[in-house]
Amino acid sequence: MRSADASRIAFFSSKRYDQEMFEPLAQASKLHIDFKEPRLDQTTAPLAAGAKHVCVFVNDEVNTSVVEQLASLGVEHIALRCAGYNNVDIESCRAAGIRVSHVPTYSPEAVAEHAMALILTLNRKMHKAYNRVKEGNFALQGLLGFTMHGKTIGIIGTGNIGKAFVRIALGFGCKVLCFDPYPDPSIISPNCQYVELSELFAKSDIISLHCPLMPQTQHIINTDSIAQMKPGVMVINTSRGGLIDTAALIKGLKSKHIGFVGLDVYEMESELFFRDRSCEVIQDDLFQRLSTFHNVLITGHQGFFTIEAVTEIANTTLANILNLNQGQPVAARFL
Ligand code: NAI
Repeated sequence: MRSADASRIAFFSSKRYDQEMFEPLAQASKLHIDFKEPRLDQTTAPLAAGAKHVCVFVNDEVNTSVVEQLASLGVEHIALRCAGYNNVDIESCRAAGIRVSHVPTYSPEAVAEHAMALILTLNRKMHKAYNRVKEGNFALQGLLGFTMHGKTIGIIGTGNIGKAFVRIALGFGCKVLCFDPYPDPSIISPNCQYVELSELFAKSDIISLHCPLMPQTQHIINTDSIAQMKPGVMVINTSRGGLIDTAALIKGLKSKHIGFVGLDVYEMESELFFRDRSCEVIQDDLFQRLSTFHNVLITGHQGFFTIEAVTEIANTTLANILNLNQGQPVAARFL
């Protein structure tokens, strides 16, 4: 194993906004960041040479082969600058002696507010209204929405983001049904109850996903679960794309059983998101089909993208790196 510089960070999938946020903080902490545009995968792992820390985001691919390459380069720490860690093979990191940290909470409200933004836009058709008025078209035909007050929202996963979303939903006067294998009794109230998943599917007008992606939750929205939902249901996913079987979702939309879909994440997003592809021919036919529905709204994984959240992500990620260098505890250290 080669020796790596403890002050050096190989920063994958870097964007200009990452650089603007991280660079001043890193300089103040005497850390050196090598900002690298490519996504981390088997082919780009050698770019981490010389760094003790590798900083990755949601679509970097940290599988066994990447972990082994990083270990042979002397990398000792993978610092995720996000909450979810489904893209990192934690067992392989453990076996290779690489420690892993993430940013467990940074602004759960940012993601929860984005989920509500998707709901309100789909419901009141803001995207259409905006364009119509710009073109001098003040007709209301086709813009009919529904009143949120009194509707039932099903929330799958009541961790930090799910709980923030519960508060927002209750503020709208909605009835909330939650499902989580680890219920939090503190959120139970007359308008907010835990129920079985089947009851949540059967009774919710809107279903919002806030659980992590793992084998038990992969394709939690599938042909069977869609069949249990109310006709006209709205499905919102700001969590991870793999929670939804996209082909089943498209079938549900075509049959009109699903009335609306709002997505900030998509199963195959690593091939698409975080880049300008407006002059490319997009090869993903499922994505292309999804984006043709008038009642589907897709954003490119921007739930986290508020100034407060991004500042907190940068602060915690660099604190994790400094703490690790100094032998202090870091956020959710797995090793
Ligand atoms: P968290 O760890 O605080 O909460 C996750 C909750 O899901 C926990 O209460 C857990 O018990 C629950 N859960 C586990 N297995 C479940 C199952 N089978 N069914 C239902 N619930 C289950 O995580 P947090 O911070 O609330 O984040 C949730 C997810 O949101 C993350 O895993 C990440 O994938 C996603 N996320 C998306 C962002 C975006 O920009 N769109 C930004 C940040 C997070």
